[in-house]
Order: sequence, then structure tokens, then C-alpha cells
Amino acid sequence: MSAMRRLTTAAVVAALCATVSTLVVQGDARAADPLYKDPSQPVEVRMNDLLGRMSLTEKLGQMTQAERKFISTAGMRDLRIGSVMAGGGEGPAPQSPQVWADLYDSFQRAALETPLGIPMMFGIDAVHGASHVRGATIFPHNVGLGATRDPGLVERIGRVTATEVAATGIDWTYSPCVCVARDDHWGRVYESFGETPENPSAMTSLITGLQGPSLNSSTSILATAKHYVGDGGTTGGDDQGNTAVSEAELRAVHLPPFRAAVQRNVASVMVSYSSWNGAKMHGHRYLLMDVLKGELGFQGFVTTDWDGIEKVDGQFGFTPEDVRTAVNAGIDSFMITEQYANFIGLLRAEVDAGRVPMSRIDDANRRILRKKFELGLFERPFADRGTSSTVGSREHRAIAREAVQKSQVVLKNSGALPLPQAPGKLFVAGKSADNIGLQSGGWTMTWQGGDGPITPGTTVLQGIRNTVAPGTTVTYNRNGDGIDASYRAAIAVIGEKPYAEYEGDREDDLRLDAEDRAVLARLKAAGLPVVTVILSGRPLDITAELPDLSALIAGWLPGTEGQGVADVLFGAVRPTGTLPVSWARNVGQQPINAGDGKSALFPYGFGLTYAPVIPLPDPPQPDSRWNARDTIRAEYFTGQQGTQLEQCTDAGCGKAVGYVSPGDHIDFDSVDFGGTSPNAVTLRIASGASSGNVEFRLDSPTGPVVATAPVSPTGGWESWVDLTVPVAGATGKHRLYLMFTGPGGDFVNVNWVRFA
Ligand code: GLC
Repeated sequence: MSAMRRLTTAAVVAALCATVSTLVVQGDARAADPLYKDPSQPVEVRMNDLLGRMSLTEKLGQMTQAERKFISTAGMRDLRIGSVMAGGGEGPAPQSPQVWADLYDSFQRAALETPLGIPMMFGIDAVHGASHVRGATIFPHNVGLGATRDPGLVERIGRVTATEVAATGIDWTYSPCVCVARDDHWGRVYESFGETPENPSAMTSLITGLQGPSLNSSTSILATAKHYVGDGGTTGGDDQGNTAVSEAELRAVHLPPFRAAVQRNVASVMVSYSSWNGAKMHGHRYLLMDVLKGELGFQGFVTTDWDGIEKVDGQFGFTPEDVRTAVNAGIDSFMITEQYANFIGLLRAEVDAGRVPMSRIDDANRRILRKKFELGLFERPFADRGTSSTVGSREHRAIAREAVQKSQVVLKNSGALPLPQAPGKLFVAGKSADNIGLQSGGWTMTWQGGDGPITPGTTVLQGIRNTVAPGTTVTYNRNGDGIDASYRAAIAVIGEKPYAEYEGDREDDLRLDAEDRAVLARLKAAGLPVVTVILSGRPLDITAELPDLSALIAGWLPGTEGQGVADVLFGAVRPTGTLPVSWARNVGQQPINAGDGKSALFPYGFGLTYAPVIPLPDPPQPDSRWNARDTIRAEYFTGQQGTQLEQCTDAGCGKAVGYVSPGDHIDFDSVDFGGTSPNAVTLRIASGASSGNVEFRLDSPTGPVVATAPVSPTGGWESWVDLTVPVAGATGKHRLYLMFTGPGGDFVNVNWVRFA
């Protein structure tokens, strides 16, 4: 169907709907509920009825999105804000499903208090699982999923991700990035499924998984194809830079994944910060209005990137010109972290002056409201807390483990792989071997990602230990200290530290960092076979070290299920991963891409394999988030009843759990007490009034008591003391409950507990 005929048809349908809704309204003018609140009506009818009732204030509010830290619920209500987001996936401690659902519901209640009661939407960067939630299943980043070349698997990953995100109430993810990464200097290579349009187009199957068979389901969320268009093709891989290519190349390389996303009915498209031949995408009417909405027939809504309208003229802040240009270019929803009131004021002035037509405002509102109706938000506005038990479930982690297995690319194998499972001595080294933060990369718990046990999971080292035969000695030393000829082989797990966006742009030689090079040299000196796994967001220059490696695996950024790496190392599965990006010999080859005639160290599509030799090990127990003998900070509780967090006043104590009265509790989902019970527990507490007990119980609020701490006033709510009481019978891994009991009234603030 030609674009013109399609537009005419759409216009006729819209007119018919408007007529029908007018007739129905006249016919049912006496109905108690307005038409738009009637779920039995077609979406188009409900949407046109609602639009007809909205003031300009309400229409401008629907087009505005604020960052959750910078808006109050009152502000939401008064400005009629249409959606909220949490930058970098960062939320209130401990970022449990419960805390997120509470946050979502608090903003939703405010939205429903507005005269028309239009529910809000909440956006998050759930870009490799519900990566904003502690305890969630974290999948390999997109570059690893590209290596699987398994769109069906990626669709299943979308389904699991949507289920775990929806458990937090959130209904919209800024994912998938369908960027085509052309230059490895770029800090977002790992967010790309590959360097040609082939994988990014095929892996739009993630959208189908995220949005489900129908958006009107408590486990479906909106997907966002980003960043439109050409973000991965900037000169030098400069994030937010300039993509200097012909229109033919832009259409051949960077546009196809968006065409595929639109064909999968993607709900939203996020505009790129970058420019095309010097013209900012956030003001590009031809590419947004004529190509995306016209030629591709995109029916969803276009959102800016974070404060993206500031990028229209490249200067900080935004002017009336920036606002007018971006809205008239076809952008519908505006992510304005703090200056949302200013944006609304400027846009109102542009509309009043006739420089932004009402038809553009109405089109933007239709596109946004249509998704709110399709999501079923008018009927089910609040978080569905019944699904929180699926977050990080064994079933979900099994799918992530499969994805890790299929994403591993064996680049070299001189016979060392698969590693023998038979008893012997194995040495493991490298900074990335035992570190959930490093194996997960950016966009995990925080924007830039983190270091260490940032969320429950299985490190590569734990996966190795879980796989070797009984009687095998597995020694780990980050630097390789202690290695000698008594070991059968050495496994080096090295790579990059987490980063996101421009923080990951590299101007250097893309080689391994000094620490990793030193580890490899140390292992080489021991004269053992060295198997190396690189956990990185992009190919690194390994050319100098390659001759000394017995085997080399590109592990990418696997996420929480490091067992999948061990499965490949020991041949529990056949390795099937193939390179989604060319692996350069040296940085001088950048940009290097399939078909450009350059001779890569390992070309696009390369990957070795071998037959499986052992059965798949049982799933590992996700590590306990806490070792009882570490300091367990009360603010990071997994669950709570009746308490509130508050900032401590004295140095370094962070937040404490306060407003604690009898009957309240806090709990921690997985605490490892070890094989022998601690004999004491110390609590750091303060009490300004009353008195009571803190009972330490295992596994449930009525489980066995292993300690009881009697609390009496310490001289004030910030007069902190360390109270130590005896412990008995606490061994192994348990959910730990702190049950607060006593005669009545708030009686204690808790900063941390530590067993000894
Ligand atoms: C960031 C990123 C984008 C992300 C958005 C919201 O700047 O460019 O990918 O979705 O802001 O966090």
C-alpha cells in the first residue's frame, strides 16, 4: 500500500472514530462514567473522547517526562506530567521490587488525582534484564546476544525481562538499542547486537518478547527502539558525535533495524543525541516525520533522549527555538529531567503564538495516549505485586545461563579446551574472575555499573568451582600470586571495568589494561597452558599476547549467570557463538567492519567449536548477598514492614532504618552464616524513647530465634551505640529477619548488624 493511500485511510478512520465517538457521547451523554473510561470501547474511540476533554495544560503535560528525583507527586499532579523515569536505572535503596513498586504507585496515585485521571507511565533502562532491581536476572549485554545469533532466545529474554520489570510496576523500558556499532572506540559497542544491520534487525525479536502477545497484560511493557538514527556510525566512534555518511549508507546500514522494529509494532522510538552530516537528530524533521512516521509508518510515539532537546543547538539549556524545532520535527514525548516546568511554559508560548500547530500537539497526544490505553493502565494503574517472586527465579536464571553459553565465542583453541573435569589442580587469576559487577558491565544497579557483589549471581569462578569434579583444587588469586608448575592449567578471566555511554569512549590503543597484561605475563612465566576469557564490551587488541595463549574466549559481558562461561570451558555444552563484530588486529584498523576489505585478526562471524564432553552441572545456588561476618547495612534490606529509611547525622553512617515500632521488621534475602555458627552479633543502634527487643529469626517472621537484643534509650535517636549479644544455632544460608517487639511506640534506629 502506498504511503499516501495509507495516510488517507488512516485519516478516514480517525474521522470515522471521531464521528462515532461524538454520536456515542450524544447517545450516552447521561452515562455516569465518561466514554474514555469504558474498557469495552475501542481504543480509538476512548482516545478521541479523552482528547476532546483535555485542556492545553493537560496536552502539554502528557508530552512531558520528568526524572523521579526532580519531581514531587504534587508537581506531577499540578503540571499534569504524563510520565516519569529513573535515570541510569537508579532508585531508592535497596532497589528491591517492593521499593520500586512503592515508588511507582506513589507517582501513579498523584496522576490519578488529576481531573481527568490520566495514568502516568514510568520509563527505565532495563537493557539486559530488570537491571535496576537488586536480585533480578541480569542477561548478557546485546553484543553477547548478537554472538548467539538466536532471535528466538532473545525473544524469550524479552519475555523474562518484561515479567521482572513489571513486578516493579514499571511499564516502559528504553530497550532495545538497535544501534549498528561501526567503530570500537565507541563506549556503547556492547549495547549493539552487531556491526552490520543483520543482527540488530533480527534481534528486534526482543521487542516481541517485551511487549508480549498483547500490551494489555500485567507482564507486558513498552519497548523502545533506540537511538534513531545512526548513533553507532559516528566518526571515530565519538558518542553523541556526527555520522558523516551518504543517505544511501544511512538507509543501508543504520535504518533497517528501525524498519524491523516498526514492523514488530515497537511502542516508542528514542531519538539519538548524534547528528547526521552535521544536522542534530533531535531537530531532524525529514528523518523523524517523513521517514520514520511517514515512509516506515511508525504509529507509536517518539521520545527524546535524556534532556535531548538541549542537543538541538548543542548548547546547554534549551531555547524557545529548540522546543519549537524538536516538537515540529515530530518528537512526541520529552525527557526533561529538571526543567520540565520551563519546557511546558515555552511550548505553551509557541502554541499560543501559532508557531507549533495544535494538530502537532494532538498527534503527539494521540500517540502517547494510545499506548496508555493499550497497556490497560486506565483499568490496572498500579503495580501488580503478585509477580515479584519471579524476580531472579531459577527458571529465569536458567534462560540467562543458556544465553551466556551461546554468547561465548571461542577464538583460539590449541587443544586446551574443553578443560578436563578430572581431579587435579586448576589456577584461576584475573580481576574479572570473581566479580559480579565486572561481569555485568554498565547499566547494572547504577548507570555506570559497579564493582563486586552488587547483586546476587554466580561469578565465573563460582561457576568453575560448581563444575569441577570433587577432589579438584581450584586456587584463585587475582594477580596470579602462588602459581607454579604443580597446576594443570591456568584460567585468566580479564577484561574491562564497567562503563556506560561516553564514559566508555576510548581514544587509546584498545589494548588490555596493565593489570591484565601483567597477569598474563605471570601465568605465562609459570609455563602452564593458559586459557583466557575476556569479559569486555568490545573487541580488545590481544594480538601481542595471543601467541602465548593456549585458548581464548570472548565472553563479552555475561551478567549474573557466570555458570554459562564455565559450561563452555569444561565442555558441558558445545560452544556455538560467532563474532557479531570484527576483531581488529590493532586500533589502527578502526573502523573495521565486515566487507570493508580489511584483514581482521578474527573476522565477523568467526567462532570455533568442540563436542560436549560432560553433562550440564546442576544450577548453582546464587551466592548469598551477604556474608554474616560482613557489615550488613540495615538500609539495604530486601523487605520491610512499617519502617522508614532516614539519613544518619553522624559521619559515614549513611542511612538508618527508623520509625521502628513493635510488630515491624526488616529482612535480608540471603545471608550466609557459614558452616559454624557465629557466637555473637553486634548491632549499631540508637534509641530516643521507649524500649523493646530485636529478635533475629531465620527464614520467616516466626522462624527460629538465634539472638535477642534488648534495646533501651541510648540518649537520643542519633546517639549511636554498639550492642553485642550472644548468638546460637545460625549456620548455612538463610533469609534473616529482624523482628521488632516490645511494649509500644517507636523504640530503635538500626544502622547495621554484624555477626562474629
Ligand atoms: C541516556 C542514554 C539512553 C538512555 C537515557 C535514559 O543518556 O543515551 O540510552 O535510555 O539516557 O537513561
